[in-house]
Amino acid sequence: MLHENPPAQYPLNHPIPLPKAPMKDDDPFVDRQGILAGSVRLTIGRVGQEIDVSGAIDSSRVYIPGVTVVIAPDAGIASDIAATRIVEVLRESGSRGLGTATGGTMGPIWQRVHAQIASDAALDLQSLFTVGLDEYVGLSPSSPQSYHQEMRSRLQPLQRFGFRSEQIHLPDTWDDKTGRPKSPQQLREECFRYEALVHSLPLRLQLLGLGHDGHIGFSMPWSDLHQRTHISDLSPKTRAANARFFSDDLDAVPKQAVTMGMGTLSAMAHRGTELLLIATGAQKADAVRDALFGMISPGCPASYLRLLPNVTFVLDQKAAGDLLGGVLEAPNPLISQPLRDMTS
Ligand code: F6R
Repeated sequence: MLHENPPAQYPLNHPIPLPKAPMKDDDPFVDRQGILAGSVRLTIGRVGQEIDVSGAIDSSRVYIPGVTVVIAPDAGIASDIAATRIVEVLRESGSRGLGTATGGTMGPIWQRVHAQIASDAALDLQSLFTVGLDEYVGLSPSSPQSYHQEMRSRLQPLQRFGFRSEQIHLPDTWDDKTGRPKSPQQLREECFRYEALVHSLPLRLQLLGLGHDGHIGFSMPWSDLHQRTHISDLSPKTRAANARFFSDDLDAVPKQAVTMGMGTLSAMAHRGTELLLIATGAQKADAVRDALFGMISPGCPASYLRLLPNVTFVLDQKAAGDLLGGVLEAPNPLISQPLRDMTS
């Protein structure tokens, strides 16, 4: 079977409580929605240097209701931008929830977060909780390649601010009693538990990476875009890309994962969680182009983000690929005039 079905009672009509995130009237989310409705906003340069080309998109050809796209000169600056936003969230006193992603892109971002807060004596993270997008099926939480282990080591430096590893949440795919992966039935129950958990913890910010094939979390191409947390069969492309974390041994890469679905992210975004996607490197350029300018289709789960409010893509120039080439060099029928203004 390509994709596990969610439990019969779920997600249709399931009474998952969706508490309102505690948003203040002056929350930037409110402004941003106003600015961005019906437009794409491209920002090129360093933090603070903003060039607004809202309205540059011919809406008869592309449909981007409100994605902020930030193009940084290089991956280091893209990581700085993401880290700066994470630090802002960590410093907000009323903000306790951070949605995390795993994978290579996130490493430099967390290094920068730790550097930025290193001398912040007042920071108190005792009430912070993190909620991860996904976990492999088949790895114990102590396996070095498990996302439990990755998040423990990425967040370990936060301990000096009162943060404990118990505050890290990820899908539990391992049965401690038997010392084996959970059974299919147990995994389905875990999907249900995790989805409810995600919605019981209001998240200020959810970080997202981008798969080479356009996946988000482990929501694979051609999976149901309305799905909530589910069991995912990892695509061959995803397993091949992740073999680098398993000493290039493709056979060692798990075949399944439990992951939040695009429906989970949609519910989050609609109640005020900011979705921040970071993609760096030329190998992500095709996925970025498909996500921002391709058809909105299950073939590229990331394209679905264009239908959600409060989404930002932070890219480096390599990941922006054609997008940036179109902006600065070749005349691009979709984005031309305002860009000339911008570069003159
Ligand atoms: C894993 C996850 C994935 C990764 C994606 C990119 O939690 O969310 O969607 O973000 O596979 O991975 P890297 O950053 O290794 O290229």
